[in-house]
Amino acid sequence: MRTPSADPLTVYGGTPLHGEIRVRGAKNLVTKAMVAALLGDAPSRLYDVPRIRDVEVVRDLLALHGVRVYEEDGALVLDPANVERAAVDEINVHAGSSRIPILFCGPLLHRLGQAVIPDLGGCHIGPRPIDFHLQALRQFGAVVDKTETGLHLSAPNGLQGTKVSLPYPSVGATEQVLLTAVKARGVTELSNAAVEPEIIDLICVLQKMGAIITVHTDRVIEIEGVERLGGFNHRPIPDRIEAASWAAAALATGGDITVRGARQVDMMTFLNVFRSVGGSYEVDDSTDGGIRFWHPGGELRATALETGVHPGFMTDWQQPMVVALTQARGLSILHETVYEQRLGYTKALNQMGATIQVYRNCLGGTPCRFGRRNFHHSAVIAGPAKLQGTDLEIPDLRAGFSHVIAALAAEGTSRVYGVDLINRGYEDFENKLAALGARVER
Ligand code: EPZ
Repeated sequence: MRTPSADPLTVYGGTPLHGEIRVRGAKNLVTKAMVAALLGDAPSRLYDVPRIRDVEVVRDLLALHGVRVYEEDGALVLDPANVERAAVDEINVHAGSSRIPILFCGPLLHRLGQAVIPDLGGCHIGPRPIDFHLQALRQFGAVVDKTETGLHLSAPNGLQGTKVSLPYPSVGATEQVLLTAVKARGVTELSNAAVEPEIIDLICVLQKMGAIITVHTDRVIEIEGVERLGGFNHRPIPDRIEAASWAAAALATGGDITVRGARQVDMMTFLNVFRSVGGSYEVDDSTDGGIRFWHPGGELRATALETGVHPGFMTDWQQPMVVALTQARGLSILHETVYEQRLGYTKALNQMGATIQVYRNCLGGTPCRFGRRNFHHSAVIAGPAKLQGTDLEIPDLRAGFSHVIAALAAEGTSRVYGVDLINRGYEDFENKLAALGARVER
């Protein structure tokens, strides 16, 4: 049964999107920088914070732990003067489906000597284990106990710097190590680290607070623990996932969208693919810059796409781009190497008239961890397909936005259920759609 909040977004397809929207600070940096504020002994100020559900969740969790969070002069101020324990049932209520609570471990262990972490949610795109996180925390000296409601962590002897080698360059586990190592005693060497721009930006945040962090060229990050950290003033990198989603929407609908705030340097891999399939873009480097993305007319070209850790093609760019590829002539090949179950959304596209076949084999140049393990993680997309409007149920954040793009590109009317999920990561997206000339209504 659908919940009342799941009232559908009705999308009248077939109208190219035209106009200008703005992206603000990256969700996947902002939420982490908010957690970093817990480590300081002075207030931090974060600018350009998007009004999205995930930010609200972290804000609530911080407030539960005694952090005073308020807005002032365009900044989100986070004052950690009185960090305190929170009740586990309250944490559970506020955490909702977010995965951010796991990142509270290091900061809370430093501040309070213990941490309580609820069962984690997040998008349903695979099992999303936290074994790398727990292994690293144990290496720092944390004691981890599983309880009925989640995890209880303590650090009876404090946290010591250590050598951590990640089995895979996980974004979250890298952040976990950074947020723990900055105040651990001694030096930590992290190898096989993720080096996404959001991670480098988090390192900038921590450096502003007083941390000493060296990023080597070979995925090795060295952190020299310090005794105290202060607050930070930070303007985050723009949301390159949201920017790419709008770019793909321009391509799929045959439109022209200027994404103010988008930065070339964070999107180079995406821009290469966008151009090679026949999209056009123009970078505006002025102060109020951005990137204009448009469909120049004619046919789009099929391509081979493989997702990967930075500097590869982001897994979060994959779903919107696949919608655009349903409009390209020929066979496109996709190999998803970051998450093992991130192609479920293609079923809905097929119902709309796309021809996408998923495979267990690695169809990319590089065999990945998921090959021959029964995960449907590769796809062949045959195009161009005439998409028809239909009823759609949103499965997760990025796939959800892709459903909306598909509905916009389709002929006829679609009803998209569960769009509230999109508010987790896309600020004000319904108004942005309207500003771009999309014919949508609730
Ligand atoms: C972050 O998730 C992002 N989320 C994801 O964006 C993004 O897709 C992902 O990084 C990859 O770029 C946030 O920043 C909040 P990972 P994260 O740890 O950190 C495996 C969005 O829509 N793994 O890099 O959870 C894992 O299963 C979201 O904004 C383990 O096996 O991703 C996956 O296969 C969706 N054990 C791979 O590593 C672990 O302990 C990469 O995951 C941790 C991860």
